[in-house]
Amino acid sequence: MAERFDVKLIEKEKRYYPDPSYKENAWVKDYQKMYDEFIADPSAFWGKIAEELDWFSTWDRVMEWNYPYARWFLNAKLNITYNCLDRHAKNHRRNKAALIWRGENGEQRIYTYQQLYKAVMRCANGLKNLGVKKGDCVCIYMPLIPEQLIVMLACARIGAVHSVVFGGFGVSALNTRINDAQAKIVVTADIAMRRGKSIPLKSVVEDALINAPSVEKVVVLRRREPLVELQDMEIDYQEMIRDVPPECPPEVMDAEDTLFILYTSGSTGTPKGVVHTCGGYMVGTYYTTKNIFDLKENDVYWCTADPGWITGHSYILYGPLAAGATVFITELTPDFPDPGSWWKLIEDEGITVFYTAPTAIRMFMKMGESWPKKYNLGSLRILGSVGEPLNPEAFEWYYHVIGGGRCPIVDTWWQTETGMQMITTMIGEPMKPGFAGKPIPGVVADVITKDGKSVPPGKGGFLVIKEPWPAMLRTVYKNDERYRKYWYTLDNVYMAGDLAVKDAEGYIMILGRADDIIIVAGHNIGTAEVESALVSHKAVAEAAVIGKPDPVRGNIIKAFVILRVGFRAGEKLVSELQYHVRMMLGPIAVPSEIEFVDKLPKTRSGKIMRRVLKAKELGMDPGDISTLEE
Ligand code: WTA
Repeated sequence: MAERFDVKLIEKEKRYYPDPSYKENAWVKDYQKMYDEFIADPSAFWGKIAEELDWFSTWDRVMEWNYPYARWFLNAKLNITYNCLDRHAKNHRRNKAALIWRGENGEQRIYTYQQLYKAVMRCANGLKNLGVKKGDCVCIYMPLIPEQLIVMLACARIGAVHSVVFGGFGVSALNTRINDAQAKIVVTADIAMRRGKSIPLKSVVEDALINAPSVEKVVVLRRREPLVELQDMEIDYQEMIRDVPPECPPEVMDAEDTLFILYTSGSTGTPKGVVHTCGGYMVGTYYTTKNIFDLKENDVYWCTADPGWITGHSYILYGPLAAGATVFITELTPDFPDPGSWWKLIEDEGITVFYTAPTAIRMFMKMGESWPKKYNLGSLRILGSVGEPLNPEAFEWYYHVIGGGRCPIVDTWWQTETGMQMITTMIGEPMKPGFAGKPIPGVVADVITKDGKSVPPGKGGFLVIKEPWPAMLRTVYKNDERYRKYWYTLDNVYMAGDLAVKDAEGYIMILGRADDIIIVAGHNIGTAEVESALVSHKAVAEAAVIGKPDPVRGNIIKAFVILRVGFRAGEKLVSELQYHVRMMLGPIAVPSEIEFVDKLPKTRSGKIMRRVLKAKELGMDPGDISTLEE
């Protein structure tokens, strides 16, 4: 199937050379030299990076590889929050801003490293008082406010495993994630703010708990006056931290102890609980944050993701704080109160490093240059992109209009599973619009055919990782079979699930998913999860879902639905089904289009052939249909 993606674009590729001063001043001055050093001795390479961080006791060996299981920093002891907080609070960064938050009404909250350190320890003690112990799972379902990050760090402080669920998920998505992880505590807020409206979160939690026996307590951060009433199981966040001791020593964690679980879409209905561990994840996120964003002491760093996704875990929280950065976050959406809101924030806060998603960039392109032109974006130094391919048009716009032709763009390819950025064009290297770039030093990636051969330039193939890396997932929670699938689908490599092409210089262009995952506005949605939500509606007998290309959102979801006897197709039912999916999975998973059909294309063994539906929808050749029934 990958052959269909042979790319002509490479022939007319364009490139940009950044100002040589970038390279002179960057942490990484010579990509190739560093890459060669890594290849010559991977353990020495990673060991040297790990030494930049603080450990309670050091490792016996950097890595042990027992295909497909890796262990990193064997027997080393650490706590990631010690590296994110204590060591800064105890040195020259004590009074440096660690976190700057802006709300929708212009409110601003700033935490210095010392203040954040204190806040995390209080929260950690509060959680301990609720009976949370090392290894217990805490589910965090919160808006993008400082407490969301504080609770994550507080969990890590005491060795509890956090499972953050994006605040845009609905009841059934939250319920599935709580139950799979057997969360003992849920931390939430009464509301999130979105475009001037308050979005209830606590009421979603209430519904999600109807069938979630593992949950003992719900902690509620009450933002709105008058304070919302609390139920039996619920505890006020402020109450939880009121009379606790100010100090909370960090739990001593083994490098391979679990740090968190984060759910991602898979090709079956149940999401996968990707498991990340303390040591390797810390080293991988610290290393990439520092070197890929070339983070310096005076940078003001803004990653626009939500901590509900891996990007927020690795590049809002752990990586940047381990590197001692000033991290900016906001609850403001890019189009509220007007499409200049983010550019205004860049000017106001003097943002120097800005990391966002192609879907946002394309939305801004649509709104026109006049919005960013109203503001002074001169503070920007480095631009980043993540989540889906940054198409050349969006690259050009980002580079010229936002970056003023001055700022390197790092288009970073990685996944929830990889934990850290894997492929990009390092600062100072020539940039090619449309290409993410090369594997970073520390990563061995390639594009291969089904038989495991490296593809020649311009030919499509599967993107794979050939050697273990420190921040790699260790397993899929309670489902190791699904973990093994990553490593046993193709011979001897990790299969990322993406299709890609390489050019003669080894630059990699990501083409998109090779499986049943749809990336909608940068969020991964599993077709199976949406299908099962649709089928749970009384009118639906069967459903199939595809991704349909969209100029702004990357893809939209289109559903084909067979109705049960006695139900009438029509606009009203379309809205009802959309509402049903919204309630169950959340707004991000709602099909924009629903078409009622009598039949779905299936294989003889009864599997729906989404590929055939998609080809028909887009007027393309469906490819091999020899297994199609009738
Ligand atoms: C896609 C997000 C092209 C890809 C960090 C991957 C990208 C999936 C890029 C993982 C990029 C991520 N260019 N595609 N720079 N970054 N992707 O788990 O399909 O939410 O497999 O992690 O997003 O999405 P996830």
